[in-house]
This record gives sequence, structure tokens and C-alpha cells, in this order.
Amino acid sequence: MRKIAIATAATVALCAGLAGCDKAPEASAPKPEALLDVAVITPVPLPTTPNYPVAAATINGWIANADTAAMRNHAWQLWQAMAQPSGQSFNGQSLPIWETWAGTADVFPPAPPAGAATAATTTTVAQRVAAPRKLRVFQQPNQFHHGRGGITPAKFDTTVTSFNKFSPEAATFLDASHPGPGGASYRYSSTSDMQKLNASWPQGTTPQDRGVQDFPVRGIELKPVFGLVHAKGLTVQPLWQGPSASTNAQNPEPQTWTTCVLVAPAGQGPVRPATPREIASIRDPGPCKTFLWAPMSTFYSVKLSAAEAQDYNTANGLTGDQAAVAGDFAVLQAMHVNSKEIPFWTWQTFWWQPGADTPNGFPGSKQGQPASLTGPWTNYATCTAYDQTTTQGGSTMTVCFNPYLETSTGIPAGITSNCMSCHGVAVIVASGTPPYPADYKKPIAFFSDPLYFTTSNTHADFSWALAGNSDPN
Ligand code: HEC
Repeated sequence: MRKIAIATAATVALCAGLAGCDKAPEASAPKPEALLDVAVITPVPLPTTPNYPVAAATINGWIANADTAAMRNHAWQLWQAMAQPSGQSFNGQSLPIWETWAGTADVFPPAPPAGAATAATTTTVAQRVAAPRKLRVFQQPNQFHHGRGGITPAKFDTTVTSFNKFSPEAATFLDASHPGPGGASYRYSSTSDMQKLNASWPQGTTPQDRGVQDFPVRGIELKPVFGLVHAKGLTVQPLWQGPSASTNAQNPEPQTWTTCVLVAPAGQGPVRPATPREIASIRDPGPCKTFLWAPMSTFYSVKLSAAEAQDYNTANGLTGDQAAVAGDFAVLQAMHVNSKEIPFWTWQTFWWQPGADTPNGFPGSKQGQPASLTGPWTNYATCTAYDQTTTQGGSTMTVCFNPYLETSTGIPAGITSNCMSCHGVAVIVASGTPPYPADYKKPIAFFSDPLYFTTSNTHADFSWALAGNSDPN
């Protein structure tokens, strides 16, 4: 992704005649030097409403009837519920409910120096989130402290910055002890416990039966993805317009997209074509051919403290004028959302889509948003995959992916398959490489396909975060 900063003087010139273009974005936000790195933020559960949690029988009815409209509506209901103000704020910005949730480092605390007690064994997730903590730990996806055995970060998404978030119910579940084989209890946030669990199944336990306990119905897991917008000048953000608007239609990763948006941090107004002058100000247009302009308010954005900016730069290898500094913005490009309302989870994903939908609405769209959805949250498109196939028991794969994530060259069937098929094979292994699917163009038989489910692994209830943390390698 190209991040281009333009001198302030140029910004002033670009702003000439655009109402509000040069206004400070957050009049009440603290100055960069006053920005906090950590705070005590209390995780807020998603309120119970007629739309959440929805009874499994109802959702299973949508699946049986291939009622995509109902599933999409549920995706929007979750999105809207999570976006509600939590009543807490950080660095002068109101936090949506999902931002208050425990992150990867809160649920799976980093390994301590050799010999020291681990935070994971001496404290609970409740204690860890009651202490000042980083809300956003910017890192490349998949950088777990225990590694992932054979699945290198490059196999997943190399060019985006993300982390995981867990609803309070999911975080408590992952940190708790659960009954398991041999009459023992196992704490799911502990790598050594999970290794013990995997080794303790009585002789003859079938692969089907070798599984962790199910997450609670109110378990939700998230994977938000953030990009960078500089506080000064215009920053280029690529815009998803489908595989044909990419220099690589097979693996249309964000850095190959040919439609680009010049994002103005303090601009106002609708998305519009960029002016020749704005375009000329870009030093490295990369593969961009079509240029649009949009205000940053089309994104959910957060102001970065110095430490957050540094984490962001480390994760992305940014230096010089490309680097983030205190007062720059992390902008929400995309977010994966899973909920355990049904045994195999609901799967939906969201990505930034200001202006019109993609041609053909592939792999999803903004259609069906609730009329009451407001603010930046309306500028995201969604797709759902509540079943592996488009009709129950059929053979046509449901296609749902996030253009920011599953377009990666490391993902075998990223743009022809779906979330559930890949997550269903998340297993805890004793050593070596988990049976990462070479190909999941066909539906996978959970949890009996001998290619993935064996007598030496344990399925992790579709959670790659749990499987990854349990990996000793
Ligand atoms: C090819 C495999 C693959 C596909 C396809 C895939 N994921 Fe994942 N996902 C992973 C792996 C591996 C992780 C853990 C590492 C990470 O976060 O990068 C993960 C992490 C996640 C997380 C964080 C919690 C967890 O389970 O680890 C969520 C939420 C998630 N994915 C949702 C989705 C959704 C929604 C889709 C479909 C739109 C999807 N994923 C598609 C492999 C996949």
C-alpha cells in the first residue's frame, strides 16, 4: 500500500475552495503529545435484543431455505450492535462496543522471559483487562508468540495490519478451565494445557470426538484490519472494485488494486473523482489508474499515540515520510466477525466501500443496511457464509471472502471459497504442521475427513486463534 504525505502548504492549496477541508478533524481531541498509550477500558457485552443472540433454530431455518437476505440482515444487525457507543472513550474519541473487547495479548498473554511466571498462569483475563492495557496492538496477522508451526505469517496476509478481538464471553471461555480427557481440567489460554489435552485422549477416541468444548452462544471473535492515514496531506488508499480492477485477477491483494482513493483527513463531502492537481501531487501512483477523493470520515478512524504509531511502523516496516507519527490515524479497512449463535458459527466480513458497490456486488455489497445505521459504518460492504455451500448439502461453494485478507497468494482458494471451510480445519497439533488445507474447493466433512481430522490432533471449534495459541512450535 502506498502512503503519501504531502507538505502542509500543498494541503492548504488543495483545500482552497473546499468547505471544511482544512478544519481540524477532532476539535476536542487531545494534542499528539497528550495522547495516551494505554487505559483502563471495561469490555462491554453486546446487548441482548430481538436481533442478538438469535435462536439457533431460526438461523438454521435461514440456512435450510438458502435465505441470503435474512443472513445478510443478521450480519448488519451484528455490525450495528457492535458499532454502538460503549459509553467509554480513549484519547478523546468515543469507543464503539467492539473496541472495548479483550485483544489477543489480553487473552493469550505473551510468553514471559525464561524462568519467570507467565501472566497467563498468575492472572485471569478479567484481571488483565481491569489493568491499563493497549487497546490496539498493531501487528501483522498471525504473529502469535508461540509461532504457528509450518504456517508462516506469509502464508496468510502479509500486507495488512490486524489483531483479534474476543467478546467478553469468548474471552472468559478461552481463559477458563474446562473438563477434558482423563478427568482433568484444561485452561484453553495455556499452550501447555492444550498440548496435554491433545495427548490425553483415551485410546480409540475417534477424530470426531477429539474436540475442545464448544464456545458459549455469546462467543464472538473479530479480526479488524487497519490502514494508515496521515494527519497531513492526502494519503492513498486502494479501493476494492473486484478482481478485474487489479493487476492480478487471481490474487487481487490490496497492493494490486487499480482504483485508488486520495483520503483527506479533514475533508468533507461525498466521494468524487480526484482533481488533476490532486493526482499530480502523488509521487508514486503504483498500479493506480483511477483516482477518487474521499474524506477520512468515510472510515472508522482512531488517532494514534506515539507508541501506537511505533507499533504500526514496526508491523509494517514503515520508515521516513511513510512512517506513522503521533496524531496520524489508523483507519478500519476491514473486519471479520464470527458468532457462535449456531454450532458451526455465523461468518460475516466487512470491508471499506465508500461510494458505489463493486461491479456485480462481488463478493458482497452494502445492500440491506438498516436505515438506522449511521456514520462511517454505512461505508462498509458485507458478505456472509453461514454454510459451506449455497444450498444445504449441495456442492456449489458459498463464496465469501474479505478483499483485504483472503486475496493473499498464501491462501489456496481465497476468492472461490469461504471462511467456514478453512476455519473448520483449525486443529491443535502435537508438533509439526497443522493440516492446512491444500485445497478446499469442495465442502469439508467436519470432523471426519481423515485428511484433516486424525488421532493425533484435536479440533478447536473453528478458532484458528485457539489452534494457533496451542501450537508449541
Ligand atoms: C485459508 C484459511 C482462512 C480463511 C479462508 C479465513 N480465515 Fe479467518 N483465520 C485464519 C487463520 C489461520 C487465523 C488466525 C491467524 C490470524 O488471525 O491471522 C484466522 C483468524 C480469524 C479470526 C480471529 C479469530 C480466530 O478464529 O482466529 C476471525 C474472526 C476470522 N479469522 C474470521 C474469518 C472470516 C469471517 C472469514 C471469511 C470471510 C475467514 N476468517 C476466512 C484462516 C482463514
